[in-house]
Amino acid sequence: MDFFQYQNNKLFAEALPVSQLAQQFGTPLYVYSKATLERHWYAFDKAFGDHPHLICFAVKANSNIAVLQTMARLGSGFDIVSQGELERVLKAGGDPAKVVFSGVAKTEREIARALEVGIRCFNVESLPELYRINDVAGKMAKIAPISLRVNPDVDAHTHPYISTGLKENKFGVSVEQARDVYCQASQLAHIQIVGMDCHIGSQLTELQPFLDAADRLIHLMKQLNADGIQLKHLDLGGGLGVPYTNETPPHPTEYAKALLEKLQQFDLEIILEPGRAITANAGILVTKVEYIKTNESRNFAIVDAGMNDMIRPALYQAYMNIIEADRSLAREKAVYDVVGPVCETSDFLGKQRELAIAQGDYLVQRSAGAYGATMSSNYNSRPRTAEIIVDGDQAHLIRQRESYENLWQLERLLP
Ligand code: LLP
Repeated sequence: MDFFQYQNNKLFAEALPVSQLAQQFGTPLYVYSKATLERHWYAFDKAFGDHPHLICFAVKANSNIAVLQTMARLGSGFDIVSQGELERVLKAGGDPAKVVFSGVAKTEREIARALEVGIRCFNVESLPELYRINDVAGKMAKIAPISLRVNPDVDAHTHPYISTGLKENKFGVSVEQARDVYCQASQLAHIQIVGMDCHIGSQLTELQPFLDAADRLIHLMKQLNADGIQLKHLDLGGGLGVPYTNETPPHPTEYAKALLEKLQQFDLEIILEPGRAITANAGILVTKVEYIKTNESRNFAIVDAGMNDMIRPALYQAYMNIIEADRSLAREKAVYDVVGPVCETSDFLGKQRELAIAQGDYLVQRSAGAYGATMSSNYNSRPRTAEIIVDGDQAHLIRQRESYENLWQLERLLP
């Protein structure tokens, strides 16, 4: 459930009409609903009840500092993959003691900064990374808390570009190698083993792959116990899918229930790293129809948002719903390819969509709150779009629209 609903045929973001927001802030425009962000975060948090748990929002899904601040105020933890994400979390008032640090290429500088601020755990992705963390921690006279990212080799049944838990993927350490890596970790002076983690992929619409992964981790954990290694937490990563159209992913409650059935017997804190499930349907991308163009084979709705603003359809052939901001206008229905201004054939928001629109109308791409703004670029020298958060009947500008000067502000002319 989200708070983008029609009232008298006009789409509202909480208590504000989307067309009005578009006029006030201009387009393209990312609009997030605070109540939806909170509702989705609580859906995960409440699902685990009294069992010790920590919901670490995956910052890569939406890293605007006001979005992170909203989570931080709920008591959220954060899953980060770079120092940039760490600095954002700190800026937003997030608690470093609730930060887990994933990613295959952590640099010495990033490791040092994470140790300096005292993060909760490094999710280690390889043996050389483990030794690097030990070295950096040694130089700083610190002990680094670590978890090993285990690659459980399960098929997440999702798009190959967002599947991460197979042996052919670059992530984590195989189950076969993990026991040895843990044994080595237990010998290192500046390493403290605290957990085990995995992340098998994104936009999963069934529970079974998560449960298979959990089984493999539990099996490995029992072997480690026999080796005298005790874990404090198990981190199952992110990956729970969302309905972009008619998918029916499991609810967080169902997921938590199934996990608790497996894990209740162990004295372990459960960590999850959801990104998309919290923010995707808490955001929309509002765009204006610049032109309607028709030829013998197609109708095109040419809009002012392009693949630089939202790359998911171009990159993953992702289907995202497109709806009219105002259905009270008298318009004929027709089938359109909704395309952007960028000079690439892959620049589309959606194809073959039935819409009732005319030039100048606003369209809304739904489910744009995750992997939208964070994956945007300046391609074709297009300034990045503004972002706002709606909170009831209040709209807050949380990222100013870029200016043309912003495009080249870090560039220099030759002497
Ligand atoms: N934890 C780790 C270690 C991850 O790599 C990811 C996502 C997450 C958590 C959060 O996963 P989520 O709950 O959002 O599925 N750009 C793609 C998605 C890439 C996901 C990468 N890793 C898209 O737009 O579909």
